[in-house]
Amino acid sequence: RGREFVPAVVVGTGYGSAVTALRLGEAGIATTMLEMGQLWTKPGRDGKVFCSTLNPDHRSMWFARRTEAPLSTFLWLDVVNRDLGRPYAGVLDRVDFDNMGVYVGRGVGGGSLVNGGMAPTPERAYFERMLPRVDADQMYRRYFPLARRMLGVNSIDPRYLEKTPAYRYARVSRKLAQQAGFRTTTIPNVYDFRYLQREERRQVPRSALAGEVLYGNNHGKQSLDKNYLADAVGTGKVTIRTLTKVLAIRRERDDYVLTLERIDPWGKVVWRGELGCRHLFLGAGSLGTTELLLRARETGALPNLPAAIGRGWGPNGNVMTARANHLWDWTGPLQSTIPTVAVDNWHDPIHPAFAEIAPLPVGLETWASLYLAITANPERGRMVFDHVHNKAKLLWGSGQSNPAIQSAKALFDKINRSTGTTYRHDLFGNNERFAADFCYHPLGGCVLGQATDNHGRVKGYRNLYVTDGSLIPGSIGVNPFLTITALAERNIARHLPTLP
Ligand code: FDA
Repeated sequence: RGREFVPAVVVGTGYGSAVTALRLGEAGIATTMLEMGQLWTKPGRDGKVFCSTLNPDHRSMWFARRTEAPLSTFLWLDVVNRDLGRPYAGVLDRVDFDNMGVYVGRGVGGGSLVNGGMAPTPERAYFERMLPRVDADQMYRRYFPLARRMLGVNSIDPRYLEKTPAYRYARVSRKLAQQAGFRTTTIPNVYDFRYLQREERRQVPRSALAGEVLYGNNHGKQSLDKNYLADAVGTGKVTIRTLTKVLAIRRERDDYVLTLERIDPWGKVVWRGELGCRHLFLGAGSLGTTELLLRARETGALPNLPAAIGRGWGPNGNVMTARANHLWDWTGPLQSTIPTVAVDNWHDPIHPAFAEIAPLPVGLETWASLYLAITANPERGRMVFDHVHNKAKLLWGSGQSNPAIQSAKALFDKINRSTGTTYRHDLFGNNERFAADFCYHPLGGCVLGQATDNHGRVKGYRNLYVTDGSLIPGSIGVNPFLTITALAERNIARHLPTLP
Protein backbone atom coordinates (compact mmCIF):
# COMPACT_ATOMS: atom_id res chain seq x y z
CA ARG A 1 0.00 0.00 0.00
CA GLY A 2 3.03 2.30 0.36
CA ARG A 3 1.92 3.71 3.67
CA GLU A 4 2.06 2.51 7.23
CA PHE A 5 -0.79 0.19 8.19
CA VAL A 6 -2.05 -1.16 11.54
CA PRO A 7 -4.99 -3.51 12.15
CA ALA A 8 -6.71 -1.19 14.64
CA VAL A 9 -6.52 2.51 15.44
CA VAL A 10 -8.09 4.14 18.49
CA VAL A 11 -8.37 7.93 18.27
CA GLY A 12 -7.94 9.68 21.65
CA THR A 13 -6.89 8.32 25.05
CA GLY A 14 -9.90 9.28 27.23
CA TYR A 15 -12.30 6.82 28.91
CA GLY A 16 -13.89 5.25 25.83
CA SER A 17 -10.54 4.91 24.08
CA ALA A 18 -8.68 3.53 27.07
CA VAL A 19 -11.24 0.75 27.61
CA THR A 20 -11.26 -0.13 23.92
CA ALA A 21 -7.47 -0.21 23.58
CA LEU A 22 -7.05 -2.46 26.63
CA ARG A 23 -9.58 -4.99 25.40
CA LEU A 24 -8.13 -4.95 21.85
CA GLY A 25 -4.64 -5.43 23.26
CA GLU A 26 -5.75 -8.31 25.49
CA ALA A 27 -7.28 -9.96 22.43
CA GLY A 28 -3.87 -9.78 20.74
CA ILE A 29 -4.84 -7.14 18.18
CA ALA A 30 -2.04 -4.69 17.34
CA THR A 31 -3.49 -1.28 18.12
CA THR A 32 -2.23 2.27 17.71
CA MET A 33 -3.69 5.05 19.85
CA LEU A 34 -3.46 8.60 18.50
CA GLU A 35 -3.57 11.44 21.04
CA MET A 36 -3.26 15.13 20.20
CA GLY A 37 -2.09 16.01 23.75
CA GLN A 38 1.10 15.16 25.63
CA LEU A 39 2.16 12.28 27.84
CA TRP A 40 2.17 13.90 31.27
CA THR A 41 5.04 12.18 33.09
CA LYS A 42 8.00 14.58 32.82
CA PRO A 43 8.47 17.00 35.72
CA GLY A 44 8.98 20.68 34.98
CA ARG A 45 11.63 22.91 36.56
CA ASP A 46 9.69 22.91 39.84
CA GLY A 47 9.96 19.11 40.00
CA LYS A 48 6.23 18.70 39.36
CA VAL A 49 4.42 17.34 36.33
CA PHE A 50 1.34 19.56 36.73
CA CYS A 51 0.87 23.09 38.04
CA SER A 52 -1.73 24.05 40.64
CA THR A 53 -4.87 26.11 40.16
CA LEU A 54 -3.43 28.82 42.42
CA ASN A 55 -0.19 29.21 40.54
CA PRO A 56 -0.84 28.24 36.91
CA ASP A 57 1.91 28.40 34.29
CA HIS A 58 2.34 27.36 30.64
CA ARG A 59 1.43 23.75 31.50
CA SER A 60 -2.11 24.73 32.44
CA MET A 61 -3.85 25.53 29.16
CA TRP A 62 -3.89 24.11 25.65
CA PHE A 63 -2.34 26.82 23.44
CA ALA A 64 -3.76 29.82 25.25
CA ARG A 65 -2.21 33.17 26.20
CA ARG A 66 -4.16 33.37 29.44
CA THR A 67 -5.79 30.84 31.75
CA GLU A 68 -9.54 30.49 31.38
CA ALA A 69 -10.67 29.26 34.79
CA PRO A 70 -14.41 28.68 35.23
CA LEU A 71 -14.60 31.31 37.97
CA SER A 72 -13.52 34.39 36.11
CA THR A 73 -13.41 36.89 38.99
CA PHE A 74 -13.30 37.02 42.80
CA LEU A 75 -14.97 39.94 44.58
CA TRP A 76 -15.51 41.21 41.00
CA LEU A 77 -11.73 41.51 40.56
CA ASP A 78 -9.83 39.98 37.68
CA VAL A 79 -7.50 38.13 40.06
CA VAL A 80 -8.23 34.55 39.03
CA ASN A 81 -6.75 34.23 35.57
CA ARG A 82 -3.07 34.62 34.67
CA ASP A 83 -1.13 35.51 31.54
CA LEU A 84 0.80 32.52 30.28
CA GLY A 85 3.37 33.79 27.81
CA ARG A 86 4.19 31.52 24.92
CA PRO A 87 1.28 29.17 24.06
CA TYR A 88 2.00 25.55 24.91
CA ALA A 89 0.34 22.13 24.71
CA GLY A 90 -1.10 22.42 28.23
CA VAL A 91 -3.49 19.95 29.81
CA LEU A 92 -6.81 21.83 29.91
CA ASP A 93 -8.59 23.19 26.87
CA ARG A 94 -11.64 25.39 26.65
CA VAL A 95 -13.38 25.23 23.28
CA ASP A 96 -15.61 28.26 22.83
CA PHE A 97 -18.77 28.28 20.76
CA ASP A 98 -21.57 30.86 20.68
CA ASN A 99 -23.30 30.67 24.11
CA MET A 100 -21.30 27.66 25.33
CA GLY A 101 -17.69 27.06 26.38
CA VAL A 102 -16.67 23.41 26.70
CA TYR A 103 -13.80 22.32 28.97
CA VAL A 104 -11.88 19.22 27.90
CA GLY A 105 -8.66 17.48 28.95
CA ARG A 106 -5.72 17.19 26.53
CA GLY A 107 -3.13 14.51 27.04
CA VAL A 108 -2.72 10.79 27.57
CA GLY A 109 -5.76 10.11 29.74
CA GLY A 110 -8.04 12.80 28.25
CA GLY A 111 -10.52 14.21 30.76
CA SER A 112 -9.22 11.92 33.53
CA LEU A 113 -6.19 14.24 33.88
CA VAL A 114 -8.19 17.36 34.76
CA ASN A 115 -11.51 16.20 36.15
CA GLY A 116 -12.75 16.07 39.73
CA GLY A 117 -12.74 12.27 39.75
CA MET A 118 -16.40 11.97 40.81
CA ALA A 119 -17.72 8.60 39.77
CA PRO A 120 -21.41 8.24 40.62
CA THR A 121 -23.57 5.61 38.96
CA PRO A 122 -26.61 7.13 37.23
CA GLU A 123 -30.01 6.51 38.65
CA ARG A 124 -31.31 3.46 36.84
CA ALA A 125 -34.67 4.93 35.80
CA TYR A 126 -32.99 7.96 34.22
CA PHE A 127 -30.36 5.78 32.51
CA GLU A 128 -33.18 3.71 31.00
CA ARG A 129 -34.93 6.85 29.85
CA MET A 130 -31.82 8.24 28.15
CA LEU A 131 -30.61 4.94 26.66
CA PRO A 132 -33.81 2.90 26.31
CA ARG A 133 -32.34 0.27 24.00
CA VAL A 134 -29.42 -0.64 26.25
CA ASP A 135 -29.95 -3.71 28.44
CA ALA A 136 -29.95 -1.98 31.86
CA ASP A 137 -29.85 -5.26 33.77
CA GLN A 138 -26.60 -6.16 32.09
CA MET A 139 -25.17 -2.67 32.69
CA TYR A 140 -26.03 -2.57 36.40
CA ARG A 141 -25.04 -6.17 37.03
CA ARG A 142 -21.88 -6.41 34.97
CA TYR A 143 -20.51 -3.26 33.35
CA PHE A 144 -20.96 -0.58 36.03
CA PRO A 145 -19.28 -2.81 38.67
CA LEU A 146 -16.50 -3.65 36.20
CA ALA A 147 -15.93 0.04 35.42
CA ARG A 148 -15.88 0.95 39.13
CA ARG A 149 -13.34 -1.78 39.84
CA MET A 150 -11.07 -0.93 36.91
CA LEU A 151 -11.09 2.80 37.63
CA GLY A 152 -10.39 2.37 41.35
CA VAL A 153 -13.59 4.02 42.54
CA ASN A 154 -13.62 4.43 46.32
CA SER A 155 -15.60 6.31 48.96
CA ILE A 156 -14.58 8.65 51.72
CA ASP A 157 -14.48 7.24 55.27
CA PRO A 158 -17.54 8.85 56.92
CA ARG A 159 -15.63 9.46 60.15
CA TYR A 160 -12.92 11.34 58.28
CA LEU A 161 -15.53 13.39 56.39
CA GLU A 162 -17.06 14.50 59.69
CA LYS A 163 -13.88 15.74 61.30
CA THR A 164 -11.39 16.93 58.69
CA PRO A 165 -10.90 20.68 58.20
CA ALA A 166 -10.49 19.95 54.46
CA TYR A 167 -14.23 19.18 54.08
CA ARG A 168 -15.60 21.83 56.40
CA TYR A 169 -16.85 23.59 53.26
CA ALA A 170 -18.85 20.46 52.36
CA ARG A 171 -20.25 20.02 55.88
CA VAL A 172 -21.42 23.65 56.00
CA SER A 173 -23.20 23.37 52.64
CA ARG A 174 -24.67 20.02 53.65
CA LYS A 175 -26.01 21.41 56.93
CA LEU A 176 -27.74 24.33 55.18
CA ALA A 177 -29.22 22.05 52.52
CA GLN A 178 -30.57 19.74 55.21
CA GLN A 179 -32.01 22.69 57.11
CA ALA A 180 -33.91 23.55 53.94
CA GLY A 181 -35.27 20.00 53.81
CA PHE A 182 -33.04 18.55 51.08
CA ARG A 183 -31.46 15.12 51.00
CA THR A 184 -27.68 14.96 50.79
CA THR A 185 -25.40 12.13 49.76
CA THR A 186 -21.71 11.31 49.38
CA ILE A 187 -20.19 10.76 45.95
CA PRO A 188 -17.62 8.05 45.19
CA ASN A 189 -14.40 9.15 43.51
CA VAL A 190 -11.28 7.81 41.81
CA TYR A 191 -9.07 10.00 43.99
CA ASP A 192 -7.60 7.68 46.64
CA PHE A 193 -9.21 8.90 49.86
CA ARG A 194 -6.63 7.04 51.95
CA TYR A 195 -3.95 9.10 50.21
CA LEU A 196 -5.93 12.23 51.07
CA GLN A 197 -5.88 11.37 54.76
CA ARG A 198 -2.12 10.84 54.61
CA GLU A 199 -1.78 14.19 52.83
CA GLU A 200 -3.51 15.86 55.68
CA ARG A 201 -1.08 14.27 58.14
CA ARG A 202 1.78 15.46 55.87
CA GLN A 203 3.03 11.90 55.40
CA VAL A 204 2.98 12.24 51.60
CA PRO A 205 3.15 15.18 49.16
CA ARG A 206 -0.08 17.14 48.98
CA SER A 207 -2.20 17.26 45.84
CA ALA A 208 -5.95 17.56 46.59
CA LEU A 209 -4.93 19.62 49.63
CA ALA A 210 -2.54 21.75 47.55
CA GLY A 211 -5.08 23.21 45.14
CA GLU A 212 -4.37 20.69 42.37
CA VAL A 213 -7.16 19.47 40.10
CA LEU A 214 -8.15 21.56 37.06
CA TYR A 215 -4.62 21.58 35.61
CA GLY A 216 -3.83 18.04 36.79
CA ASN A 217 -3.16 16.21 40.07
CA ASN A 218 0.45 15.26 40.82
CA HIS A 219 -0.65 12.58 43.30
CA GLY A 220 -3.67 10.71 44.58
CA LYS A 221 -5.83 10.61 41.49
CA GLN A 222 -6.17 7.30 39.69
CA SER A 223 -6.33 8.78 36.20
CA LEU A 224 -6.51 6.53 33.14
CA ASP A 225 -2.72 6.49 32.67
CA LYS A 226 -2.52 4.62 36.01
CA ASN A 227 -5.07 1.91 35.18
CA TYR A 228 -6.63 1.20 31.77
CA LEU A 229 -3.87 2.78 29.69
CA ALA A 230 -1.02 1.28 31.72
CA ASP A 231 -2.66 -2.14 31.36
CA ALA A 232 -3.24 -1.57 27.63
CA VAL A 233 0.41 -0.74 26.96
CA GLY A 234 1.32 -3.67 29.23
CA THR A 235 -0.31 -6.11 26.82
CA GLY A 236 2.58 -5.37 24.44
CA LYS A 237 0.07 -4.83 21.64
CA VAL A 238 -0.88 -1.20 22.18
CA THR A 239 1.24 1.82 21.35
CA ILE A 240 0.36 5.48 21.95
CA ARG A 241 1.48 8.29 19.66
CA THR A 242 1.29 11.62 21.43
CA LEU A 243 0.99 15.19 20.12
CA THR A 244 -0.51 13.55 17.04
CA LYS A 245 -3.82 14.87 15.83
CA VAL A 246 -6.14 13.13 13.40
CA LEU A 247 -7.16 15.74 10.85
CA ALA A 248 -9.23 13.69 8.42
CA ILE A 249 -10.57 10.20 7.71
CA ARG A 250 -11.21 8.66 4.32
CA ARG A 251 -11.81 5.19 2.97
CA GLU A 252 -9.66 3.28 0.49
CA ARG A 253 -11.07 -0.12 -0.51
CA ASP A 254 -11.54 -2.01 2.79
CA ASP A 255 -9.33 0.29 4.88
CA TYR A 256 -9.53 3.66 6.56
CA VAL A 257 -6.81 6.21 5.89
CA LEU A 258 -6.13 8.86 8.52
CA THR A 259 -4.40 12.15 7.82
CA LEU A 260 -2.18 12.96 10.80
CA GLU A 261 -0.22 15.93 12.04
CA ARG A 262 2.36 15.81 14.79
CA ILE A 263 3.49 18.92 16.67
CA ASP A 264 6.14 19.67 19.26
CA PRO A 265 4.88 20.91 22.65
CA TRP A 266 5.17 24.53 21.46
CA GLY A 267 2.89 23.89 18.49
CA LYS A 268 5.41 23.63 15.64
CA VAL A 269 4.35 21.01 13.10
CA VAL A 270 7.11 18.40 12.99
CA TRP A 271 5.48 15.77 10.76
CA ARG A 272 2.52 15.23 8.51
CA GLY A 273 1.55 11.87 7.12
CA GLU A 274 -1.00 9.12 6.74
CA LEU A 275 -1.81 5.92 8.58
CA GLY A 276 -4.00 3.11 7.28
CA CYS A 277 -6.07 0.74 9.43
CA ARG A 278 -8.80 -1.88 9.06
CA HIS A 279 -10.77 -1.11 12.26
CA LEU A 280 -11.20 2.47 13.38
CA PHE A 281 -12.43 3.32 16.90
CA LEU A 282 -13.25 6.97 17.57
CA GLY A 283 -12.79 8.07 21.18
CA ALA A 284 -11.89 11.73 20.68
CA GLY A 285 -14.70 12.85 23.00
CA SER A 286 -18.06 14.38 22.17
CA LEU A 287 -16.50 17.36 20.37
CA GLY A 288 -13.56 15.54 18.76
CA THR A 289 -15.37 12.49 17.44
CA THR A 290 -18.35 14.46 16.17
CA GLU A 291 -16.06 16.91 14.38
CA LEU A 292 -14.11 14.13 12.64
CA LEU A 293 -17.30 12.45 11.42
CA LEU A 294 -18.94 15.73 10.35
CA ARG A 295 -15.82 16.65 8.39
CA ALA A 296 -15.76 13.23 6.72
CA ARG A 297 -19.43 13.49 5.78
CA GLU A 298 -19.46 17.12 4.69
CA THR A 299 -16.27 16.99 2.61
CA GLY A 300 -17.53 13.88 0.83
CA ALA A 301 -14.80 11.61 2.23
CA LEU A 302 -17.41 9.33 3.87
CA PRO A 303 -20.60 10.49 2.15
CA ASN A 304 -22.84 7.72 3.50
CA LEU A 305 -22.51 8.80 7.13
CA PRO A 306 -25.95 9.29 8.64
CA ALA A 307 -27.73 12.63 9.07
CA ALA A 308 -27.92 11.89 12.82
CA ILE A 309 -24.23 12.77 13.25
CA GLY A 310 -24.06 16.15 14.97
CA ARG A 311 -27.44 15.74 16.65
CA GLY A 312 -28.37 15.12 20.27
CA TRP A 313 -25.65 17.27 21.86
CA GLY A 314 -26.06 18.53 25.43
CA PRO A 315 -23.98 19.85 28.40
CA ASN A 316 -25.51 17.36 30.88
CA GLY A 317 -27.57 20.24 32.28
CA ASN A 318 -24.45 21.77 33.91
CA VAL A 319 -24.90 24.96 35.95
CA MET A 320 -22.52 26.55 38.45
CA THR A 321 -23.66 28.81 41.24
CA ALA A 322 -22.39 30.06 44.59
CA ARG A 323 -23.96 31.19 47.86
CA ALA A 324 -22.70 33.58 50.54
CA ASN A 325 -22.83 32.10 54.04
CA HIS A 326 -23.26 33.77 57.40
CA LEU A 327 -20.04 34.81 59.13
CA TRP A 328 -20.34 31.96 61.64
CA ASP A 329 -20.59 29.44 58.81
CA TRP A 330 -17.00 29.81 57.65
CA THR A 331 -15.95 27.25 55.04
CA GLY A 332 -12.26 27.06 55.94
CA PRO A 333 -9.01 28.06 54.25
CA LEU A 334 -7.95 24.43 53.61
CA GLN A 335 -10.30 22.83 51.07
CA SER A 336 -9.87 19.49 49.34
CA THR A 337 -10.20 19.99 45.57
CA ILE A 338 -11.96 16.62 45.37
CA PRO A 339 -15.72 17.07 45.88
CA THR A 340 -17.46 14.31 47.78
CA VAL A 341 -20.87 15.57 48.99
CA ALA A 342 -23.95 16.46 46.91
CA VAL A 343 -27.40 17.88 47.46
CA ASP A 344 -29.76 15.42 45.83
CA ASN A 345 -32.96 16.99 44.55
CA TRP A 346 -33.15 14.65 41.56
CA HIS A 347 -36.64 13.44 42.46
CA ASP A 348 -38.20 16.88 42.26
CA PRO A 349 -40.90 16.38 39.62
CA ILE A 350 -40.46 19.82 38.03
CA HIS A 351 -36.89 20.90 38.80
CA PRO A 352 -34.64 17.86 39.22
CA ALA A 353 -31.07 18.74 40.18
CA PHE A 354 -28.08 16.92 41.58
CA ALA A 355 -25.81 19.61 42.99
CA GLU A 356 -22.26 18.82 43.96
CA ILE A 357 -20.65 20.88 46.68
CA ALA A 358 -17.50 22.18 45.02
CA PRO A 359 -14.42 23.62 46.74
CA LEU A 360 -13.13 27.15 46.40
CA PRO A 361 -9.52 26.33 47.26
CA VAL A 362 -8.03 29.81 47.31
CA GLY A 363 -6.20 29.31 50.63
CA LEU A 364 -8.17 31.91 52.60
CA GLU A 365 -11.61 32.21 54.09
CA THR A 366 -14.27 33.11 51.51
CA TRP A 367 -17.56 32.32 53.31
CA ALA A 368 -18.67 31.09 49.89
CA SER A 369 -20.33 27.78 49.00
CA LEU A 370 -19.81 26.78 45.39
CA TYR A 371 -21.84 24.17 43.50
CA LEU A 372 -21.87 22.33 40.20
CA ALA A 373 -25.46 21.33 39.54
CA ILE A 374 -26.39 18.64 37.05
CA THR A 375 -29.96 19.07 35.83
CA ALA A 376 -32.25 17.21 33.44
CA ASN A 377 -32.32 20.00 30.84
CA PRO A 378 -34.20 18.47 27.87
CA GLU A 379 -32.77 21.02 25.39
CA ARG A 380 -30.38 19.65 22.77
CA GLY A 381 -27.91 21.46 20.55
CA ARG A 382 -26.60 20.46 17.17
CA MET A 383 -23.09 20.35 15.80
CA VAL A 384 -22.62 21.32 12.16
CA PHE A 385 -19.58 21.65 9.94
CA ASP A 386 -18.20 25.12 9.27
CA HIS A 387 -16.51 24.78 5.85
CA VAL A 388 -14.88 28.21 6.01
CA HIS A 389 -12.94 27.43 9.19
CA ASN A 390 -12.78 23.67 8.57
CA LYS A 391 -14.13 22.86 12.03
CA ALA A 392 -17.27 21.89 13.87
CA LYS A 393 -19.59 24.55 15.18
CA LEU A 394 -22.11 24.07 17.98
CA LEU A 395 -25.59 25.49 17.56
CA TRP A 396 -26.74 26.21 21.12
CA GLY A 397 -29.02 29.18 21.81
CA SER A 398 -28.55 31.17 25.00
CA GLY A 399 -32.17 30.41 26.00
CA GLN A 400 -31.45 26.69 25.84
CA SER A 401 -29.65 26.88 29.20
CA ASN A 402 -32.72 28.36 30.94
CA PRO A 403 -34.33 25.07 32.03
CA ALA A 404 -31.04 24.14 33.74
CA ILE A 405 -30.85 27.51 35.50
CA GLN A 406 -34.48 27.22 36.64
CA SER A 407 -33.79 23.82 38.22
CA ALA A 408 -30.71 25.08 40.04
CA LYS A 409 -32.56 28.25 41.09
CA ALA A 410 -35.46 26.28 42.59
CA LEU A 411 -33.01 24.39 44.80
CA PHE A 412 -30.79 27.28 45.90
CA ASP A 413 -33.60 29.82 46.29
CA LYS A 414 -35.09 27.44 48.83
CA ILE A 415 -31.78 27.01 50.69
CA ASN A 416 -31.26 30.80 50.77
CA ARG A 417 -34.83 31.41 51.91
CA SER A 418 -34.70 28.80 54.68
CA THR A 419 -31.30 29.85 56.01
CA GLY A 420 -31.39 33.62 55.42
CA THR A 421 -28.46 33.59 53.00
CA THR A 422 -27.91 34.97 49.48
CA TYR A 423 -26.21 34.26 46.17
CA ARG A 424 -22.68 35.42 45.35
CA HIS A 425 -22.62 37.77 42.36
CA ASP A 426 -18.89 38.31 42.09
CA LEU A 427 -17.60 35.03 40.70
CA PHE A 428 -18.90 34.44 37.17
CA GLY A 429 -18.67 37.88 35.53
CA ASN A 430 -21.50 40.33 34.67
CA ASN A 431 -22.92 40.00 38.21
CA GLU A 432 -24.36 36.62 37.19
CA ARG A 433 -25.60 34.26 39.90
CA PHE A 434 -25.72 31.22 37.61
CA ALA A 435 -23.15 30.15 35.04
CA ALA A 436 -24.69 27.85 32.44
CA ASP A 437 -22.67 29.15 29.51
CA PHE A 438 -19.87 26.64 30.03
CA CYS A 439 -19.80 22.94 30.79
CA TYR A 440 -17.54 20.13 31.94
CA HIS A 441 -19.75 17.34 30.60
CA PRO A 442 -20.16 17.58 26.82
CA LEU A 443 -22.25 14.62 25.68
CA GLY A 444 -23.76 13.45 22.41
CA GLY A 445 -23.25 14.22 18.75
CA CYS A 446 -23.09 10.54 17.67
CA VAL A 447 -25.92 9.14 19.72
CA LEU A 448 -26.17 5.41 20.37
CA GLY A 449 -28.95 3.83 18.33
CA GLN A 450 -29.22 6.92 16.10
CA ALA A 451 -25.87 7.79 14.48
CA THR A 452 -24.65 4.29 15.40
CA ASP A 453 -26.25 0.90 15.96
CA ASN A 454 -27.06 -0.17 19.50
CA HIS A 455 -23.36 -0.96 20.19
CA GLY A 456 -21.61 2.05 18.69
CA ARG A 457 -21.01 0.84 15.11
CA VAL A 458 -21.39 3.90 12.89
CA LYS A 459 -24.22 3.48 10.40
CA GLY A 460 -23.29 3.41 6.71
CA TYR A 461 -19.72 2.03 7.09
CA ARG A 462 -18.10 -1.21 8.19
CA ASN A 463 -15.45 -1.41 10.92
CA LEU A 464 -16.04 2.14 12.12
CA TYR A 465 -16.97 2.55 15.80
CA VAL A 466 -17.65 5.33 18.31
CA THR A 467 -16.56 4.61 21.90
CA ASP A 468 -16.84 7.83 23.89
CA GLY A 469 -19.22 10.39 25.45
CA SER A 470 -20.67 11.32 22.06
CA LEU A 471 -22.81 8.15 22.32
CA ILE A 472 -24.80 9.55 25.28
CA PRO A 473 -27.70 11.77 24.23
CA GLY A 474 -26.79 15.04 25.95
CA SER A 475 -27.71 14.12 29.53
CA ILE A 476 -27.17 11.28 32.01
CA GLY A 477 -28.08 12.95 35.32
CA VAL A 478 -24.74 12.48 37.08
CA ASN A 479 -21.07 13.06 36.21
CA PRO A 480 -20.58 10.96 33.11
CA PHE A 481 -17.21 9.20 33.00
CA LEU A 482 -18.29 6.05 34.83
CA THR A 483 -21.15 5.63 32.36
CA ILE A 484 -18.84 6.30 29.38
CA THR A 485 -16.43 3.65 30.72
CA ALA A 486 -19.14 1.07 31.37
CA LEU A 487 -20.74 1.59 27.95
CA ALA A 488 -17.36 1.26 26.24
CA GLU A 489 -16.80 -2.04 28.09
CA ARG A 490 -20.22 -3.26 26.97
CA ASN A 491 -19.68 -2.26 23.37
CA ILE A 492 -16.17 -3.65 22.90
CA ALA A 493 -17.28 -6.96 24.46
CA ARG A 494 -19.81 -7.19 21.63
CA HIS A 495 -17.29 -6.28 18.88
CA LEU A 496 -14.35 -8.46 19.95
CA PRO A 497 -15.72 -11.78 18.66
CA THR A 498 -16.24 -10.16 15.22
CA LEU A 499 -12.64 -8.88 14.96
CA PRO A 500 -9.88 -10.90 13.30
P1 FDA B 1 -12.18 12.53 26.65
O1 FDA B 1 -12.53 13.94 26.40
O2 FDA B 1 -11.83 12.10 28.02
O3 FDA B 1 -10.93 12.14 25.73
C1 FDA B 1 -10.82 12.49 24.39
C2 FDA B 1 -9.35 12.54 24.02
O4 FDA B 1 -9.23 12.62 22.61
C3 FDA B 1 -8.62 13.75 24.59
O5 FDA B 1 -7.44 13.32 25.23
C4 FDA B 1 -8.32 14.60 23.37
O6 FDA B 1 -7.10 15.33 23.47
C5 FDA B 1 -8.23 13.56 22.26
N1 FDA B 1 -8.57 14.07 20.92
C6 FDA B 1 -9.63 14.82 20.56
N2 FDA B 1 -9.65 15.04 19.24
C7 FDA B 1 -8.56 14.40 18.73
C8 FDA B 1 -8.03 14.26 17.41
N3 FDA B 1 -8.61 14.81 16.35
N4 FDA B 1 -6.86 13.56 17.25
C9 FDA B 1 -6.26 13.00 18.34
N5 FDA B 1 -6.73 13.09 19.60
C10 FDA B 1 -7.86 13.78 19.80
N6 FDA B 1 -16.73 13.65 34.74
C11 FDA B 1 -17.03 12.86 35.78
O7 FDA B 1 -17.62 11.80 35.59
N7 FDA B 1 -16.67 13.23 37.05
C12 FDA B 1 -16.04 14.42 37.31
O8 FDA B 1 -15.73 14.72 38.46
C13 FDA B 1 -15.75 15.27 36.21
N8 FDA B 1 -15.17 16.48 36.40
C14 FDA B 1 -14.73 17.21 35.30
C15 FDA B 1 -13.96 18.36 35.49
C16 FDA B 1 -13.43 19.02 34.39
C17 FDA B 1 -12.62 20.27 34.59
C18 FDA B 1 -13.65 18.53 33.08
C19 FDA B 1 -13.07 19.20 31.87
C20 FDA B 1 -14.41 17.38 32.90
C21 FDA B 1 -14.96 16.73 34.00
N9 FDA B 1 -15.69 15.57 33.83
C22 FDA B 1 -16.07 14.83 34.91
C23 FDA B 1 -16.06 15.08 32.49
C24 FDA B 1 -15.23 13.89 32.03
O9 FDA B 1 -13.85 14.16 32.20
C25 FDA B 1 -15.58 13.60 30.57
O10 FDA B 1 -16.95 13.29 30.51
C26 FDA B 1 -14.78 12.45 30.01
O11 FDA B 1 -13.40 12.70 30.06
C27 FDA B 1 -15.20 12.17 28.57
O12 FDA B 1 -14.59 10.97 28.16
P2 FDA B 1 -14.43 10.62 26.63
O13 FDA B 1 -13.92 9.23 26.53
O14 FDA B 1 -15.70 10.95 25.94
O15 FDA B 1 -13.34 11.64 26.02
